Amino acid sequence: MAADGSAVRVLVVDDEASHMQALCDTLRDYGYQTVGFTAGEAALAELGGGGYALLLADLMMPGMDGITLLQAALRSDPDLACLIMTGDGTIGSAVEAMQQGALDYILKPFKLSVILPVLKRALAMRQLRIDKAQVEQSLRERAAELAQANRELDLARAKAELASRAKSAFISSMSHELRTPLNAILGFSHILSSTTLPSTAAQKREFAAHILKSSKHLLALINEILDLAKVESGTMELELQAVPLAELIQECATLIQPLCAARQLRLALPAAAQLRALADPTRLKQIMLNLLSNAAKYNREGGAIAVHCGAGGGRVRIRVCDTGMGLRPEQLGELFQPFNRLGQEHGGEEGTGIGLVVTRRLVELMDGAIGAASEPGQGSEFWIDLPAA
Ligand SMILES: Nc1ncnc2c1ncn2[C@@H]1O[C@H](COP(=O)(O)OP(=O)(O)OP(=O)(O)O)[C@@H](O)[C@H]1O
Ligand SMILES: [Mg+2]
Repeated sequence: MAADGSAVRVLVVDDEASHMQALCDTLRDYGYQTVGFTAGEAALAELGGGGYALLLADLMMPGMDGITLLQAALRSDPDLACLIMTGDGTIGSAVEAMQQGALDYILKPFKLSVILPVLKRALAMRQLRIDKAQVEQSLRERAAELAQANRELDLARAKAELASRAKSAFISSMSHELRTPLNAILGFSHILSSTTLPSTAAQKREFAAHILKSSKHLLALINEILDLAKVESGTMELELQAVPLAELIQECATLIQPLCAARQLRLALPAAAQLRALADPTRLKQIMLNLLSNAAKYNREGGAIAVHCGAGGGRVRIRVCDTGMGLRPEQLGELFQPFNRLGQEHGGEEGTGIGLVVTRRLVELMDGAIGAASEPGQGSEFWIDLPAA
């Protein structure tokens, strides 16, 4: 039975040296690799080195007895298959040995026909235990993986629910925002078209002006919402290229100049730095115009706007600073919310309250970031970071 025993290392411990030797020799003939000891302490030291599949220990030995040896051996290698050898008179102790973890016992004097099947059985049982432990371990790992996947699913679901609620809130406020100018248009055109309602020529001009203003507002709203929808649906095509910042800012400044002139605002542009951002020029212009028009709209008469550029760590930063009324910390926290005009809906400045939302989406689409800082009464700073080209 060399095939059964091959490569299986067996440690034999018996205080009777001749028994131990005979057993070692016999088992070796059957293909087992045997090492023998006559004392438990020495056997235990050898087991500490590892590599044994089976321990055959005599029960009654001077010094360390079989049960103590077996307990210590199992502590150092729980996979070790242990068999106890005992004479007829001590079968009670053999039972105790099995309670302590021995897989079986062999009564002395033993016959080869008995001992070989017992060894085989013990080794098979050991293999079963190892396999079971492996299965249990992979089951535990699989369960942990599943739990992790569940947690990720929960997180994704919560995120999706949040996004869906945000979308519903957006649609509801959008409908409200669209209805307001539309109602004004309907109301004033109704008056104009009526033959009974009194309206002088001056009133008619006034009503027509209201209709014009509301229509423009409605158009601006729809344009911004369409832009936002394009960004959100991922259909906005970007043409990323190296954009010279000084030139782009100069172009935007020209466009914003009339707004500044109307409020006597000084506009300071960055020194002709050679900075270039990796961006879509059209969209970057849209971003800058949004920030500059805010800096102008929410400024004070005779105030100032300053644009600064800087670079570092592979990024460029553009800052738009104004000397306006500024924003309180709680208002800063509500920036970038669609249709939230932070109280300006009652002020004199026109706006849809969606400019910064679009701006942020555009900046993020170009792998950038946007932020704001403000000092109430002193002014605000809006900055964007973009990858440098
Ligand atoms: N530079 C600024 N200083 C002070 N408040 C600002 C500044 N920029 C933005 N805000 C505040 O943030 C709000 C939202 O700005 P956002 O640009 O999104 O909308 P808006 O200017 O009201 O309208 P529009 O969509 O036409 O730009 C503004 O209504 C204003 O209250
Ligand atoms: Mg704006």
